[in-house]
Amino acid sequence: MEPRITIQTEQYQAPELSIVIPSYNERANIPVLVERLGHVLKGVAWEAIVVDDDSPDGTSAVAKAIGAVNPHVRCIRRIGRRGLSGACIEGILSSSAPIVAVMDADLQHDESLLPQMLAAIRGGAELVVGSRYVEGGTTGDGLSSWRRWGSETATALAKKLLKVNFNDPMSGFFMILRDKVEGVAPKIAREGFKVLLDIVASMPEPLKTVEIPFTFRERLEGESKLDSLVTAEYLGLLVSKFTGGVLPVRFLMFATVGASGVFIHLSTFLTCQKVFDFGFEWAQFAAVMVAMTWNFLLNNQLTYRDKRLRGFALLVGLVSFYVVCSVGTVASVGVGSWINGFQPAAWVASLAGALLSAVFNYAASSVVTWRK
Ligand code: GDD
Ligand code: MN
Repeated sequence: MEPRITIQTEQYQAPELSIVIPSYNERANIPVLVERLGHVLKGVAWEAIVVDDDSPDGTSAVAKAIGAVNPHVRCIRRIGRRGLSGACIEGILSSSAPIVAVMDADLQHDESLLPQMLAAIRGGAELVVGSRYVEGGTTGDGLSSWRRWGSETATALAKKLLKVNFNDPMSGFFMILRDKVEGVAPKIAREGFKVLLDIVASMPEPLKTVEIPFTFRERLEGESKLDSLVTAEYLGLLVSKFTGGVLPVRFLMFATVGASGVFIHLSTFLTCQKVFDFGFEWAQFAAVMVAMTWNFLLNNQLTYRDKRLRGFALLVGLVSFYVVCSVGTVASVGVGSWINGFQPAAWVASLAGALLSAVFNYAASSVVTWRK
């Protein structure tokens, strides 16, 4: 039997607009933001969906306490997961409203723009972007100059490589038809920060887009979760999207770390041979161990920072990394000395062994070390 759904229009109007608010350690900002939304959205059927990744500061409890008395507010508390893009997508997918907006929790985005954005969508736009780069818009003092440089370079690249037809694809403040996101949701990377760029680059047809300038405000409470690694991750997303999604961002980052590991491997190998007079096998063994530790730490910091292991788990992870890669190590020493038997330059043999172990390391570690 079909379940009967009763619609009680007199008491409660279903939201036309869902505002998805990703949050991590924003407990002081949520109440202020909700209050301001209530003011600017008078007469609109709206809801706010706070998507919190189980912030240690108890943001979700604050959001739920508000939701208990304010029917405009609800909160998704995600356990064991981190990631701005994933949080945005999950919030959007939890909505039934025809229109969704994404907005930071930290009050850096100008909520007074929302009615104008909504009007643009009602008027036929499919995407409205709160943009820091169109005339009248500014980055204010909200971004460090290093971040601003990274952001501007990345934007220029996106426009060139991905044929993005508006000015601020890095913006975290936008409004869009929910339907459009539902269609491409499976293609969006969960780990990154660049959810808008990802959505736009995944669209089969370009969206009718309107940009509205705004001033990116300074953060007053809490701190930014975006570090300089964001730019590296963003470049990964560009390459990934440019290759039509064939190479996942995670793999590209792993490969980059691996490349740096090769450098570490070779330096260790040569140092052991030349400075400490090690024989080939021992020098290769030492190089593999040092490179493995390097790769583990860097991947934990960069590639898997959403699943970053800390404290005791870091130790367990390192040991598991050694164990699963021991096959790779043995193979590396074996293959390396086998090739060395043909008398090429010693570094060629060493490098061949290193590449082999890198493949092992990748396959094994994604399944065992960072499986969570
Ligand atoms: N759920 C969840 N999970 N939320 C997160 C996470 C996470 O892992 N990381 C950050 N957030 C939330 C923050 O709490 C904040 O509400 C919002 O996402 C933006 O994070 P910030 O750390 O404040 O980012 P920002 O101000 O440095 O960067 C902003 O500007 C960029 C443009 O340069 C963001 O709007 C970016 O999306 C934007 O690209
Ligand atoms: Mn911010």
